Amino acid sequence: MSADPLFVAAAAARNKAHAPYSGFKVGAAVQAAEGMIYGGCNVESASFGLTICAERVAVCKAIADGSRKFTRVAVFAETEELTPPCGACRQFLWELCGDIEVYLLNHKKQMVCYKLGDLLPLAFDARLLGVKSLGGSSVSRPGIT
Ligand code: THU
Repeated sequence: MSADPLFVAAAAARNKAHAPYSGFKVGAAVQAAEGMIYGGCNVESASFGLTICAERVAVCKAIADGSRKFTRVAVFAETEELTPPCGACRQFLWELCGDIEVYLLNHKKQMVCYKLGDLLPLAFDARLLGVKSLGGSSVSRPGIT
């Protein structure tokens, strides 16, 4: 059985991480509806607040390449406990990718999958601003009209 290319891309992206301050290397990969896969790693800054997470790097690469619809994202870290996207990334993923599948993986081949909407219930997004967004705003949510 061949490995899922999305997971392979997320693990490969981690090897590119620039994390001299935290030492915490993360890889992510997002898959576009057309099938393309974009990897990203975390990139840290000495001005810590400027650090960008692997997930957002992957999504920005995809957007910059012209992709606009997404199906899945994977997050890979070498942690015993699977690493979930931070709050900022959940918001960013929701707005740009919608209610996609979020796979969390580690070096021990452990894996779990969530729907993004379950990781970010009652999201604030473009819908509240009366604007159509790429992702979450167009997705109907239980209990939310
Ligand atoms: N980080 C990510 O890249 N993605 C996550 O899902 C969690 C955190 C990065 C940000 C920072 O470079 C380092 O991990 C420690 O927070």
